[in-house]
Amino acid sequence: PPPGRHEAEDATISQGVFENTHAGYSGTGYVNGDNVTGSYVEWPIQASSAGPATVSLRFANGTTADRPSAITVNGVTAYPSRDHPGTGAWSTWVSDTFTVRLAAGANTIRATATTANGNPNLDYLEI
Ligand code: GCU
Ligand code: CA
Repeated sequence: PPPGRHEAEDATISQGVFENTHAGYSGTGYVNGDNVTGSYVEWPIQASSAGPATVSLRFANGTTADRPSAITVNGVTAYPSRDHPGTGAWSTWVSDTFTVRLAAGANTIRATATTANGNPNLDYLEI
């Protein structure tokens, strides 16, 4: 994969499953999180130095309802609720891009469903 791409299926999954039924994903598949508040995917991210980083979270949402996610970095909330609106189909993937501040060395970035709709399907996080 391109440098800096971190597949969701290789990350820590809490309340969700690996899936590969909807086309267009990167890697071997994506994460279908349980449709409950609190389900999450957490990526371990190494940074060579502290500072801001641009992050793209690739997702698909085949419903017409928003699937917002909270983004936490090293346990601290960076974004309480990022909107992930419907993409038109489960096989249509788009990126939500935002900036986070990373520490030097080991970091975690977690995307947690903030509503009972759950997260959208999550493909990867790219830094
Ligand atoms: C369908 C779809 C899943 C998706 C789920 C949902 O079951 O196949 O990929 O995660 O809907 O609504 O979350
Ligand atoms: Ca789901």
